[in-house]
Amino acid sequence: MANLLVTGTQWGDEGKGKIIDLLTPSFDVVARYQGGHNAGHTVYVNGERIILHLIPSGIFHRGVLCIIGNGVVIDPRAFLDEIQGLEKSGVEIDDNIVISKNAHLILPYHSQREIIDEERKGAKKIGTTCRGIGPSYEDKMARRGIRVGDLLDLCILKEKIKENVEEKKAYFAYYDKPLPDAEKIYKEYAFYASKIKKYIKDVSLLLDEKMKEGKSILFEGAQGTLLDIDHGTYPYVTSSNSTAGGVCTGLGVPPKKIDTVLGVTKAYTTRVGGGPFPTEIFDERGEFLLERGNEYGSTTGRPRRCGWFDAVGVSYSCRLNGIDKIALTKPDVLDDFDEIQVCVGYKYKGKLLPSFATESWILDKVVPQYKKMRGWRQPIRKIVDFTSVPQAFKDYLKLIEDTIQARIVLVSTGVERKDIILNETELKDIVDLDKFKKEMT
Ligand code: GDP
Ligand code: IMO
Ligand code: MG
Repeated sequence: MANLLVTGTQWGDEGKGKIIDLLTPSFDVVARYQGGHNAGHTVYVNGERIILHLIPSGIFHRGVLCIIGNGVVIDPRAFLDEIQGLEKSGVEIDDNIVISKNAHLILPYHSQREIIDEERKGAKKIGTTCRGIGPSYEDKMARRGIRVGDLLDLCILKEKIKENVEEKKAYFAYYDKPLPDAEKIYKEYAFYASKIKKYIKDVSLLLDEKMKEGKSILFEGAQGTLLDIDHGTYPYVTSSNSTAGGVCTGLGVPPKKIDTVLGVTKAYTTRVGGGPFPTEIFDERGEFLLERGNEYGSTTGRPRRCGWFDAVGVSYSCRLNGIDKIALTKPDVLDDFDEIQVCVGYKYKGKLLPSFATESWILDKVVPQYKKMRGWRQPIRKIVDFTSVPQAFKDYLKLIEDTIQARIVLVSTGVERKDIILNETELKDIVDLDKFKKEMT
């Protein structure tokens, strides 16, 4: 198959984990390019719910290589815990995971600092996962970060930890917090080094070799386009590029190697943490989406804010990523609504905006323009082909396709692998249909 990039088109938690797991059998490699263990990707395997944070969602398929790129930030403790958890669930981990030597490490002082920063911001806090993601990327950009490859030389590791702790001295003193103990951190990370070194490789080179051998790659995005550090709702974003460009920088792969981009899109909208959310619902319909959709963060357990489908935001994501095909998830959560709304435009100061706005203060004030749709009022989970879906549901899908200018290649109607309605004509260009269908059974 041609190489495929799969990325979220909203504020994360679109159901990427489930979709990537299903697509994986058509690929030889699944490669994650950004983020860290702030992500939570849910996959149901033989009835068991497994949440992945750092490890790519292709891991449940033997023979598929899972790669963590240089654009990812890695907390070694979280990585090792995740491996242990997967092994307990019967997943074999041996030479099927690789970590880039150029990926940056998350150290204990990163999350400690993030907690202080978030508290200091009070009502203006970002609502981060406090996993140390942002501060690790900060050190990377400031050119003092510690990379996974540094674990391979303990003298270098020791020196870098010492220098970094020294650099943070003034910060911790200012906030009257104890300075992290460099020696203690070193001992802990030297232990992780002994466990992790077997996974460390030159990922850009490895991917190049794989592609030369004719292997196909699925590039896995974490978070979502509207959380992208450059193109999202700054500053209420994560600290990496979740959009398509992140593949090139986060894995060391040339742009022309991304053949197709598939967006994963939820049939309504959610967001966890602070920041603008034009279509947020504040009444009992929002609470209904929260409960019926089980919209509780896969990483932090926080309730997700819920709202109507925002075609302005998703169109913007499609433009940024070059998406013309999407996988639509969770419309089953809307089964009981008499009326469903879709935001088809934003008005700001009385005028229609030409596009999505990334200025938080503008997005806070836009007035969503809704198109009201009749609900289908019946369970769609059991439906297996498009010919049997109710007309009102067809109308909903058509409105989404028309407003975002992308085709729906599949509709996910429940948490399990088998809960899928396929658009075979569209999907066959992206995956091996037989392999895909086998996975659903
Ligand atoms: P990700 O971060 O994009 O991988 O998404 P999460 O795993 O954080 O959140 C998606 C949630 O929705 C998980 O609990 C999934 O099990 C669940 N889910 C995925 N697809 C569907 C679907 O089509 N219908 C329903 N009801 N739940 C789904
Ligand atoms: P997946 O991959 C939803 C949000 C946080 C916060 C902001 C910044 O599961 O879709 P961070 O800890 O990254 O600095 O927090 O980004 N956030 C996510 N929201 N899904 C995610 O990942 C997220 N990863 C980060 O809630 O608002
Ligand atoms: Mg998630």
